[in-house]
Amino acid sequence: MRLSAGYTKFAVLASSSGRVNVAAARTEGLFLRSLDALGRLEKLDVVISPLRGMVRGVPLGRCRDVLHGLPIGHPLHPALVQVPMGAWISAAVLDVVPGTRRSARILVGVGVLGAVPAALSGWVDWAEQHEDQMRTGLVHATSIAAAIGLYTGSWVHRGRGRTALGKALGFAGLCMAGTGGMLGGHLAYRQAVGANKAAEVRRLLEEGWHPVGRVEDFPVGEAVRRELGEVPLLVFRQPGGRIHVLAERCSHLSGPLSDGKIADGCVECPWHGSVFRLSDGANVRGPATAPQPSFQVNVDSDGNVHVQLPGAGCTT
Ligand code: FES
Repeated sequence: MRLSAGYTKFAVLASSSGRVNVAAARTEGLFLRSLDALGRLEKLDVVISPLRGMVRGVPLGRCRDVLHGLPIGHPLHPALVQVPMGAWISAAVLDVVPGTRRSARILVGVGVLGAVPAALSGWVDWAEQHEDQMRTGLVHATSIAAAIGLYTGSWVHRGRGRTALGKALGFAGLCMAGTGGMLGGHLAYRQAVGANKAAEVRRLLEEGWHPVGRVEDFPVGEAVRRELGEVPLLVFRQPGGRIHVLAERCSHLSGPLSDGKIADGCVECPWHGSVFRLSDGANVRGPATAPQPSFQVNVDSDGNVHVQLPGAGCTT
């Protein structure tokens, strides 16, 4: 009898926790589906197209590559957003601590100023993305713009002695910044913006030398695409006879480099114009911030071409 009562209780608990789990999973699913749906909002394209042209048209020169993060080897934007987010979160903490009005206002101002370079780097990255990423990115940028506006209002009202209104605007700004940050996370980790798309190449290949064809398979001055296991390669034979081999999918967003323009010892990606040096895969121009994996090449006495990627086969 005791066993039966205990079993019944357990069954009720299990069934109720199962219902809770199913409900939670449904809520999670709905949330993610809503975020994913942003990438399919084609109505945004009427804004995206001219905006993209404007951002691309700003004469930033080499500063554009700096804003992409090329000198540090990964996107600069995530690093820069630490300044406004840190300042604004700190201001929110001070807003609930008595006697810290002046410090809180300074932090709000620091956040607004720090948001300027963060936004600039975000916009130049945004203009070189796929359509679905730009749609989500536009909503992300709108949230952040709203946060900047609210925080600017907060700073002004705090300065005029209307502290309660300044705090209210600050907390509203933090909500918008948090929403924007969450969308930024979705862009980075779900839609894979900013990650080095060539990073997996060395894990997909086995170490050592691999044959890729004979010298005559690679006409001088012509980009040839070859498959090595799961990895596509770009093979290019220079007029002098030297053969260069790079991973073929661009480290930015996987553009096909074998369709790119080759000039001055470099290949230009046909999708967003990143430029990589053929001799060592170094990226000479963004938006890519990571180099292309570059293969060592050996031609044996029978004219067979072998390649090997330093570090290949490493799965750790
Ligand atoms: S895919 Fe964007 S530059 Fe190559």
